[in-house]
Amino acid sequence: MGEYKFPEGFLWGTATAAAQVEGAALEDGRGLSIWDAFCHLPGVQLDTPDVACDQYHRYEEDIALMKRLGVQAYRFSFSWSRILPEGTGKVNQAGLDYYRRLIGCLKQNGIRPCATIYHWDLPYALQLKGGFGNREIVKWYLEYVNVLLKNFGNDIDLWITFNEPIAVYVGYALGFFAPGLKDEKYARQCIHNLLLCHGEAVKLFRSFHLPKAQIGITVDVWHHYPNRPDHPADIAMARHQNETQGYGMFLHPLFLGGYSDELNAYMEKWGFTPEIQPGDFETIRQPLDFYGLNFYNAIFDQADDPRQMDVQPGGNFQTSVREGYDYEALQDVLRMLKEKYQLNIPIYITENGFPQTDEAPDEKGEIHDPARIECVKNVLIQLHKAMENGADVRGYFLWSLLDNFEWTAGYSIRYGITRVDFDTQKRTVKDSGKWYSQVIRSNGF
Ligand code: FCB
Repeated sequence: MGEYKFPEGFLWGTATAAAQVEGAALEDGRGLSIWDAFCHLPGVQLDTPDVACDQYHRYEEDIALMKRLGVQAYRFSFSWSRILPEGTGKVNQAGLDYYRRLIGCLKQNGIRPCATIYHWDLPYALQLKGGFGNREIVKWYLEYVNVLLKNFGNDIDLWITFNEPIAVYVGYALGFFAPGLKDEKYARQCIHNLLLCHGEAVKLFRSFHLPKAQIGITVDVWHHYPNRPDHPADIAMARHQNETQGYGMFLHPLFLGGYSDELNAYMEKWGFTPEIQPGDFETIRQPLDFYGLNFYNAIFDQADDPRQMDVQPGGNFQTSVREGYDYEALQDVLRMLKEKYQLNIPIYITENGFPQTDEAPDEKGEIHDPARIECVKNVLIQLHKAMENGADVRGYFLWSLLDNFEWTAGYSIRYGITRVDFDTQKRTVKDSGKWYSQVIRSNGF
């Protein structure tokens, strides 16, 4: 293995999201989000985000921890229902105060605040009015964004309108994320409205003329490959998945304008085409300051594999026919962003990380997670290669600072470079955390 040095000024961060770390679900006037409601549905046996990592009360400890590790930037998310408990209307001062303290503490410690505006936790009150399926969401979202920009506009280095909008598809079409609906027609409308929210928010942001802040969006790319590269049915399947159930749903309208022919044909065939008004696609396609890429893995499709039967609308969210990690896909993805989607703005890897089920400390209290180090290292090697070949990547945020509430997997899946004992809330830095700290300090490895 060679030596990998990153360019001067490359930003090393960690990432979390409100619903996954904050806890304090019912404190200080916070309203419920769809994830609170979803996890408490009668008959649903899910862990809940009620307490999570209790970062609401322990943010100072977590920031001190980041400082010790040398972390340069923290990507967190605002909880909409902490700020506007009903989604619109009355602003919860205690919620604003919390984020003011959090941001202040980050800055005092020399850690750059980067914030996701929406990381999957829609106020439940808005879901009762149709959530993302109701075009009024654009007004609701803008009201929320306006409060954020007025209060914290210049305090945040990188503003991210949405994290992984595909979660809306999973939550409204496939039903295994909140709000737990299985209605693909509705989901397609949700996606369209979400994209409008994004576009309008960028316009609003521009009207604030914030000299120090930038705005972008985070879209995860799980690229589908044909498992048999020369097999026409596999090729067709991979393309179809990328365009109709994957990143193409978002990247095409965001960067090329409109939906792709493949997606339009699919939506027409099944009667899922959303209501689109004149000017929508212009609104959606706003010039951005940066693009946030969440990269985890690639997916391999095989048309005749029984686990990946014919693509059925609403419900066939495929998993790969191959096991393991495909790190090299990162190079393809970065190339594709440039070539296919014409992206010529800076990119940040806003998430990448590695899951484990159980990571108990040894007798000395140490936590050995070599597989996580291996994974992150391999991704960074690919990233370094891609940057040598011209990819304009400015920073990397490791998911995650802490073990946390991993959505439907609850507390059983751990992504942290720091272990959280969810009984005592004790934090213990894992080997991967110590390793990452070295990477940051030497700007490479
Ligand atoms: C991403 C999510 C993030 C976290 C990681 C593991 O898809 O954005 O909240 O759950 O996966």
